[in-house]
Amino acid sequence: MLDGQRDPRHALPHGVHVDLQPDEPHHMHASRAHPHTVHLDHQPDEPHDMHPHASLAHVHGSSAPPSPGGLLVTVPGRRTAPGEADPWSGGDAYAAALRSGHGPLYLRQGDGRRHPLDVARWCAPPDADDRRVLSACRGAVLDVGCGPGRMVAALAAGGRPALGVDVSAEAVRRTVAAGGRALRRSVFEPLPGEGAWHTVLLLDGNIGIGGDPAALLARARRLVHPRGRLIAESVAPGLPDDLDERFEARFDDGSGPRGEPFPWARVGPGALLRHAAAGGWRFSTSWASGSRRFTVLRPLP
Ligand SMILES: C[S@@+](CC[C@H](N)C(=O)[O-])C[C@H]1O[C@@H](n2cnc3c(N)ncnc32)[C@H](O)[C@@H]1O
Repeated sequence: MLDGQRDPRHALPHGVHVDLQPDEPHHMHASRAHPHTVHLDHQPDEPHDMHPHASLAHVHGSSAPPSPGGLLVTVPGRRTAPGEADPWSGGDAYAAALRSGHGPLYLRQGDGRRHPLDVARWCAPPDADDRRVLSACRGAVLDVGCGPGRMVAALAAGGRPALGVDVSAEAVRRTVAAGGRALRRSVFEPLPGEGAWHTVLLLDGNIGIGGDPAALLARARRLVHPRGRLIAESVAPGLPDDLDERFEARFDDGSGPRGEPFPWARVGPGALLRHAAAGGWRFSTSWASGSRRFTVLRPLP
């Protein structure tokens, strides 16, 4: 049995805990000598603006006090971020939709096709589909692109260890306000507990993050525990199994395209499996409801 299942007191994998410290540049790595500990070490040769969201400082064993009301990791007076041009991170359209708790909000492709973003559902408590995902989670859960944090908050409310990671300050703020823990950072930057998360989530179209599903799945493989799992959502039933689209998207709040384009992707379950196999994953199980499809992947040895 995995640690996170055995001992619900584990706030994060293998006793990882996160403290806030002043705005110091840090670089994070998982210690090989102390596999139950994740350290943040200063790297003097690294420019200070390499990891601008890393005001999160010490990630260590269980001695740190719990953080009531969730954990918010942001950067006071933060420097220019690599993801700052990323409209998820700095754009008005997504933040405004999260603040209002609803859309309309679309991802708009260059050819004018629009894919609705279900902001109202993301801002609501978990629905039946989400609850099934929650029941498939094991141990310590990392929700990649957690948005306003309904999954992380639900796990936390059930006393289950979970951390959300998202580039959007508004998403992190809402997750924390809902009682969850969240870290404002890109999934492609160093994260606490790499290789120790029992469950990694890629829901609500998040397989599109970065516009390269193969790269994202390979990144997720490095985050998960060797006996852990990834729960990934693909496009809705009715769309082709082998749908495999990479494109530049812009936000559209119903009144036309807004902000800078950014890379995104959409995959059907068949294409997801192809990318997964190349990224070090094997199929475990899958299910579908009327409007959503989920696949559970396990790491290949
Ligand atoms: C399609 S939305 C899904 C929201 C969501 N899962 C929820 O429950 O509300 C994509 C989310 O991923 C976040 N995101 C985009 N790029 C990211 C990155 N590189 N790393 C982490 N999160 C990212 C966005 O800010 C946004 O909250």
